[in-house]
Amino acid sequence: MRLIREVGARAVFDSNGIPAIEVEIVADGGIRVAESAPRGSTTGEFEAYVLEDATALPTLAAVAPALTSVLDLVRPALIGRDVCDQRAVDTALREVDGGAYFRRIGGNVAVATSMAVAQAGALASGRALYRHLAESGSGPGPVRLPVPMFNIADGAVGSNTVYTEFLLLPTATEPAVALDQGVRVRAALAARLTGKGHRCSDSTQGGWSVDLGGCEATMELIVAAAEDCGLVGGQDFHLGLDLSGAEFATPAGYAFPWLEEPLSAADLTRRYLDWVDRYPLTFLEDAFEPADEAAWHGLRARLVNRAAVVGDDLFASDAERIDRGVRAGLADGALIKPNQVGTVTQALDALDAGARHGITTVVSQRSGETASAFITHLAVAGGATWLKAGGPARMDRIAKFNELLRIAEEFTPADGSHG
Ligand code: PGA
Ligand code: ZN
Repeated sequence: MRLIREVGARAVFDSNGIPAIEVEIVADGGIRVAESAPRGSTTGEFEAYVLEDATALPTLAAVAPALTSVLDLVRPALIGRDVCDQRAVDTALREVDGGAYFRRIGGNVAVATSMAVAQAGALASGRALYRHLAESGSGPGPVRLPVPMFNIADGAVGSNTVYTEFLLLPTATEPAVALDQGVRVRAALAARLTGKGHRCSDSTQGGWSVDLGGCEATMELIVAAAEDCGLVGGQDFHLGLDLSGAEFATPAGYAFPWLEEPLSAADLTRRYLDWVDRYPLTFLEDAFEPADEAAWHGLRARLVNRAAVVGDDLFASDAERIDRGVRAGLADGALIKPNQVGTVTQALDALDAGARHGITTVVSQRSGETASAFITHLAVAGGATWLKAGGPARMDRIAKFNELLRIAEEFTPADGSHG
């Protein structure tokens, strides 16, 4: 048994230059590891709470309450615990917090601590992180390689597709082949954009930041760029959309800026179905706000076997919410983001819930990321269908994809092939 000997913390920055808490775990055997908290830009109402002094943003002083939480609340609860017993550590974090959404100790504190302990546990056990995590899950752990999906474009700030992510979903399951497709389509899209006289700038998530006047024009350009690479829609790749529905729900209906006027959920459903008919679109994330259950149910019923209806804000990576929502027929896919729910074991439980229901599971980045490739190991450990780690650019995104290439070397087909 290797014990946790010290728990420390410091303020660092995330990939958007926003202050974040980093937690450092020292354990027996000379183990010392740190992880910091990622951060969403569109955060749902069911997400773990970010403990900070918002009045001090954007300076590092904003992290002060999280530092205090680590030292006063988390440290006493963890020192002396077995660093390999992830479930016990995460349970201790929940007990110290004592409520919902980690409002007391901070979800940012919980997730950074939980991930750092998992890294330390992997070192102590001498196993790869994904193997160690698989053992910490609630099931036997259907360890397998996820397929990377790519944020190939997102709506520029100030454009009418702001917050919309345009995703490329390769059908190739081998990571190197899928990654190759991602970088080629990304380059081809840049050529198309500049050829049309558009400025082409990096998005914060590693795709291109675009302003093409709407979702349809953007999907058409991505399909054309993929065709430039010799790829066939529906055969070599599919498209996905993350619509961030909750951001645009108003009393008058869904007021997406790409619409001429707000649409009711029923009319919006018709729009989505039309897109699925016209484009190789098989993945619709957060098509509605979480409260609009009838709309979720209706879309899912109409798209069975044609496109995945995927909940991000809807489920907030919570196993019980996934269980209830899938039973009610609201969705057949779930995003899993550790910082949404707060701890590594809760994220593993969410993956297990998804696997039990046989739905599409997607381990995902946040828009504000860290340099760590933790989520890649989580995706492998939990048998996720997809790894959603942004576009194939910027090291905060690439680090996750590169780690998948490394892990793939350890897999034999019998061990990790898809299907
Ligand atoms: P976020 O979204 O803005 O909530 O981090 C990122 C994503 O869903 O890919
Ligand atoms: Zn999302």
